[in-house]
Amino acid sequence: MKTVFITGVSTGIGFDALQRLVADGYFVLGSVRKKDDAARIEREFGDKVKILIFDVTDPENTQQQIASVIPLLKDHGLHCLINNAGQAVPGPLQLIEPEAFEYQMNVNVLSIHRITNLLLPYLGTDKHYPPGNIINISSVSGLFNSPYLGSYCISKHALESMTDIYRRELQMFGIKVSAIEPGPIKTQIWKKNKGKMDKFLDSPYGSILASADKVIDNNEKNGLEVSIISDTILKILRSADPKTRYLIHKKPFKFKLLKWIPDKTLDKLIQKTLAKKDNFRPV
Ligand SMILES: NC(=O)c1ccc[n+]([C@@H]2O[C@H](COP(=O)([O-])OP(=O)(O)OC[C@H]3O[C@@H](n4cnc5c(N)ncnc54)[C@H](OP(=O)(O)O)[C@@H]3O)[C@@H](O)[C@H]2O)c1
Repeated sequence: MKTVFITGVSTGIGFDALQRLVADGYFVLGSVRKKDDAARIEREFGDKVKILIFDVTDPENTQQQIASVIPLLKDHGLHCLINNAGQAVPGPLQLIEPEAFEYQMNVNVLSIHRITNLLLPYLGTDKHYPPGNIINISSVSGLFNSPYLGSYCISKHALESMTDIYRRELQMFGIKVSAIEPGPIKTQIWKKNKGKMDKFLDSPYGSILASADKVIDNNEKNGLEVSIISDTILKILRSADPKTRYLIHKKPFKFKLLKWIPDKTLDKLIQKTLAKKDNFRPV
């Protein structure tokens, strides 16, 4: 049986991927932070999954938990690692506390480096094991810098970079590395950020950030269904030659065009979008 390791399977993209991969015959090693989530998932999926409990920002616990499942990987190795666990820490760069900024980097970037390196031998840097896949759940925020989501954008840009570098370094082992770059997807990530901008309302950015919760509502309402990400994961796993990146967006062509717009024109476009008070991003 092929084994897939997914971080952050309590809800959203991670939970849906776990469900779909189990239905497709994979054995899933998943990580959550809370005992209740582990119990719920193990109750539902029985011996088709093994759930580890660790916070990805805790290197020691991460190492211990991953070490506990290495015996399961000794025979066939790991078919795929899906680096999914992530958060968005919002706020203007000027006002975001250094601890919050560091936390964002720890969850979305540093932990992925730590977890990937712990599992790489079983993905094929140890030639005893066949080459596997790494799928990083990045974001359109790894491609486009939206104001007031700076720490999240910086973290996802770093993840895009990490994806390219791992892919280029690991090609000699035959290990395939792809990024999935979703635009808004209907998951809990949106609700978790409601009210988080309130502490900046008394600042010079207050008049813009007063509509932050409306932006969240709009993104959630217009988001794509989470199943589209699981479809993409299965497409990657079934492909002998997966693409390096998969942009998943309602208007992919328009979004791609943003790359070709000169910076200053884009700045003006963002200013116009902000004036409408319903989004931080022009597309
Ligand atoms: N939804 C979107 O619109 C969207 C768009 C682009 C990219 N993404 C990316 O997709 C990934 C999954 O997000 P989602 O939308 O599915 O949101 P979600 O439902 O909030 O799921 C996030 C998952 O990450 C886990 N997690 C967060 N911080 C963690 C930590 N410190 N240690 C361990 N686990 C942690 C969460 O666990 P808890 O339940 O314990 O919090 C949860 O399982 C993220 O990397 C996100 O950046 C999402």
